[in-house]
Parts: sequence; C-alpha cells; structure tokens
Amino acid sequence: MRDIFIFEVQLISMAESDLSSIRIQSNLRPLDVRRDLPVVADLIEECFASTMDPDGQEYLRQMRRAANDETFLRWAPRVVDQASLPISGFVWEEEGKVVANLSLIPLRKDGQRVYLIANVAVTPSFRRRGIARALTQAALGHVRARGSTAAWLQVRADNEPAYHLYQTLGFIERARRTTWMSPVSNITCEKDPAIDITFRRAVDWRLQSNWLGRVYPPEVSWNLPLSLRSLSPAIFNELVHFFAVDRIQHWVARKDHTPIGFLTWESSHSYTDNLWLAPQPDNEDAAIRALLPLARSNYPSSRLVSLNYPAGRAIDPIKSCGFTPHQTLAWMEVKFK
Ligand SMILES: CC(C)(COP(=O)(O)OP(=O)(O)OC[C@H]1O[C@@H](n2cnc3c(N)ncnc32)[C@H](O)[C@@H]1OP(=O)(O)O)[C@@H](O)C(=O)NCCC(=O)NCCS
Repeated sequence: MRDIFIFEVQLISMAESDLSSIRIQSNLRPLDVRRDLPVVADLIEECFASTMDPDGQEYLRQMRRAANDETFLRWAPRVVDQASLPISGFVWEEEGKVVANLSLIPLRKDGQRVYLIANVAVTPSFRRRGIARALTQAALGHVRARGSTAAWLQVRADNEPAYHLYQTLGFIERARRTTWMSPVSNITCEKDPAIDITFRRAVDWRLQSNWLGRVYPPEVSWNLPLSLRSLSPAIFNELVHFFAVDRIQHWVARKDHTPIGFLTWESSHSYTDNLWLAPQPDNEDAAIRALLPLARSNYPSSRLVSLNYPAGRAIDPIKSCGFTPHQTLAWMEVKFK
C-alpha cells in the first residue's frame, strides 16, 4: 500500500509533458515474492543469456528453488527491506503478464543502508518504450522514501544502452573494474630472478594493507567478497585458517629484501577462487609477473581463479600470466541529500 502511495506522489510531481507516461505507470507494481519469482527467473535468463556465467546460473537455480519453498515464501515478505536478497523490487505487467523486472537489494555501506539495483530486464519485444526508465525511477523513489543515502548498480561497461539510461537518471560512475580469469593450469610467467618470493609474515601486514587499500578502495571493497580484516595476520584469523586448511594463502615478492607486492589466494564457494593483488605502485608490472604464477602452486589444475582489478591497469602483465578478461563492470552511484 505504501509503495503505491509513493508512485502516486511521484506521478503527481511529474511535469505536464510527462503525462503520457502516467498512463503506462499503472502497469508498474512492486514485486510480489510469493508469486513473481518463477517468471522473474525466466526473464533474467532470457535477457542475460549471452553473458550468464555459472554464478548467474546458480543464482537462478536458487531463485527457482526459493519459489517452491513454502517456509521461505512465508518468511520473505516479512524481511523484504532487510534481507540482502533479490526479493524486493518492481515489475512491469502487460495484459497481466510480467514483461520486465528490477530487483532492489538492501546492503550496508559504511554503516549506512544503501540499495543495489539489479536484474533490470525487459523482454525484447517490449524494449524502447520507457519501461526500464520507469522501473528505475520507481526504484529510486522507493530508495529515497526509505531514507537511504544512495543507490548503486553495476553495469557491464560494453552495455551502452543500459549505461546511458542510468547516466540520464543521475547515476555517476564511481569505479570501473575488470574481472580477470584463468584456469590454474593456464597460468604462466617468467619471473625476474632478482625477485624472491616468501610467505607473508605478520610484520608485512602494514604495507600489505596499505597497498591493498589502493587497489581495493572503500568505494569498491564494500561490495566485493573481500574483508581486509580477515586477511590480517591477527591470531584469530591464523587459527581460523589453520583449521580450515588451505582456505587462504599470502605471498610477498621482495627485491633487494624489500617488499614490492603481495598476492592472496582465497578459496570460495563460487566457481572461481579469488586472488587479491597488492603491488607496490612503482613496481606494479614486476610484482604482478612475479606473484600471479603462485596461484598455480599447490591447487587443483581444474580450478578457475579470478582477479578483480582496476580496469585498464596492468593489462600486459596480467595477460602475459595467462589471464583473460571475463568482464568489465562500471560501478555507478546516485546519492540522495
Ligand atoms: C537495457 C534495457 C533494460 C533497457 O530497457 P528498455 O525498456 O528498452 O529501456 P527504455 O525504453 O526505458 O530506455 C531508456 C533509455 O535507455 C537507453 N536505451 C535503451 N535501449 C537502447 C538501445 N537499444 N540503444 C541505445 N540506447 C538505448 C536510451 O537512453 C533510452 O532513453 P531514450 O529512449 O530516451 O533514448 C533492456 O535493453 C534489456 O533488458 N537489456 C538486457 C538486460 C540488460 O542489459 N539489463 C541491464 C543490466 S545493468
């Protein structure tokens, strides 16, 4: 009921020239988690087919499983605005059939609640009619009405229509990140013999955390599976890693006994394990060439590893180690006063 009220407030505040869009706004309604999940899953599958990776396929499997889980369906409507799940948002109906979706996922950033806009998808035969724009405007109205300070989204850098849409709605690009991937067995490199590799020691942490912070600054680390605290050599972390055999490993590259970069390998439940790279800014190239091959040691060759890194940076050394770009995402934010 409150959501409908918000749409009405938005519509009333529209300029006269927007009246034509008011008529079509009646097709827009909040996502109903109890009945919309199967059709939304189909829509996402159809609209993202060309770029969907195994994580995306798993996401759809979970969504379809949730749609048949009575316990989940009883619980979900009570937590739509708290759980970091795609169980809230808006859909667009044509003749009673859902033809477009937008998911809103509440998250915490710097202690504040922000929303991630995701799964914006319009079935092909209904595109270029202003539906995605209307869904995004409704979402922004909702986020603002909840007192949140910002909305975020991630869009593939090569998705020009979507990028342009978000730009015209006030989103500003805050970061551009490339995810590089390689099967462990493909990783190669020729290391400079003047560089020594050892495991990271506790005394190295100050430098490592400083360089990690440059590659994974707060505006991106909050929404990556990266916790700087869990990478520190604190006794508690060491104990956790000791009992969780091989879940995490850190290396340091040294030239003339001085660190020039760090690499962390971290296992994950996704289809890839994560690498976190922290080179010394002046030695980025040499540090990467020396460190990335270590991801190959000791781990099953069938496993994929992925590296999230600022787009456009260190392309040659990363490629020369056998990695290929999986995707480049623009991270965009709209802030509310
Ligand atoms: C991107 C997508 C959601 C746009 O949906 P849509 O309902 O057609 O978009 P709209 O009609 O609301 O268009 C809004 C704006 O987007 C831009 N746009 C949308 N489609 C475009 C296209 N094919 N070429 C260029 N610009 C386009 C335009 O700026 C447009 O504004 P304008 O019509 O005033 O010029 C839709 O094409 C889609 O589902 N694509 C596949 C999934 C996807 O990429 N989702 C975005 C993930 S972040």
